[in-house]
Amino acid sequence: MTRKKVFVTGGAGFIGGNFVQYMVNKYPRYDIYNLDLLTYAGDLTKHRDIETKDNYHFIKADIADREAIVPLFEKEKFDYVVHFAAESHVDRSITDPGIFVRANVLGTQVLLDAAKHVCIDKFVHVSTDEVYGELDFDPTTFFTEETSLQPNSPYSASKASSDLLVRAYHETYGLPINITRCSNNYGPYHFPEKLIPLTISRVLNNQKVPVYGDGKNIRDWLHVIDHCAAIDLVLHEGVSGEVYNVGGHNERTNLEVVRTIINTLNKSQDLIKFVGDRLGHDKRYAIDPTKLEKLGWRPTYTFDTGIEQTIQWYLDNKEWWEQIISGEYQSYFEKQYSV
Ligand code: NAD
Ligand code: DAU
Repeated sequence: MTRKKVFVTGGAGFIGGNFVQYMVNKYPRYDIYNLDLLTYAGDLTKHRDIETKDNYHFIKADIADREAIVPLFEKEKFDYVVHFAAESHVDRSITDPGIFVRANVLGTQVLLDAAKHVCIDKFVHVSTDEVYGELDFDPTTFFTEETSLQPNSPYSASKASSDLLVRAYHETYGLPINITRCSNNYGPYHFPEKLIPLTISRVLNNQKVPVYGDGKNIRDWLHVIDHCAAIDLVLHEGVSGEVYNVGGHNERTNLEVVRTIINTLNKSQDLIKFVGDRLGHDKRYAIDPTKLEKLGWRPTYTFDTGIEQTIQWYLDNKEWWEQIISGEYQSYFEKQYSV
């Protein structure tokens, strides 16, 4: 196998972190460079098992810092870029949109500029199904790659903006790119501000679980390892310039998700607390993954097998999430949920 230099942004976060481990272990002859600013969502303790490996390298930097990023690309001459780094939580984008524009839009543009000056083989931009806006509750409708972009939150608007920049750098400068748009991920190292890890951690502590509105909003859940495999496939086999949707047909209402977790942990459904709705709360997301399946991708987890594995992981790795929820997270939670 040819030696390649793979530059991953946001590899201290949830999905990027899983992807870095997946790549370091799967491709011993690839050098994996993980660049991350280590915001509240990034931590390196998850990489203890790989940090001494010869093919893993960490760089602390801000993707929006042009003076740091452009010289790094000139020096290292990366072959592949896989771009995860972003502000990723919708609720935080409603409170403070500005940091989302800086990290997600400006940060992506700096990376594109850096990449266009050196001869890279592929730039994979990891985007989200939220750029398509929302679907109604008709179960026969899905997001395809042709669905128009109608982002509803500051987060999804910043991601849609970055998608358009990536597309433009392909059309204008011929940069070899792919854009992936995945549905909701879950699995190990998911930061406990998001619905599934929030529910697991709070139920384990016998604390109330805040469910927005009536709990009937639908998300299409994909295990993070299936997302990593999809990105690996798109990186190597994706046709340059193309968008690929990623999702495994695992639609659940939020209430179904929360109830499943409570039942699995043998706790009381009384832990559910309905709270005020999220502003602009998208009703339903659902992915049509046909294009990616034609490239050869199949998910390995059903929602049932994936959620069981994930709950077990949170039981086995309490020190990881307990350390997070005991810190700065406390004041975030109090402010977000007015408790
Ligand atoms: P996350 O919040 O867990 O991790 C984001 C990482 O990016 C963190 O390690 C953080 O330190 C880093 N980061 C943030 N700003 C940075 C900056 N300016 N410079 C360098 N590093 C910075 O996010 P996630 O859930 O792992 O999502 C990763 C990517 O996947 C995002 O682009 C997100 O839009 C996309 N995505 C997420 C989901 C999901 O369900 N979580 C689904 C589809 C797509
Ligand atoms: O669809 C992909 C997106 O999925 C990614 O692009 C985002 O980065 C990721 O955060 C996720 O966005 P969501 O807003 O769908 O995820 P979240 O876990 O925040 O919420 C899932 C659903 O649960 C949503 O309908 C809101 C609801 N919810 C969430 C929280 C945090 C609650 O009911 N209560 C809560 O406390």
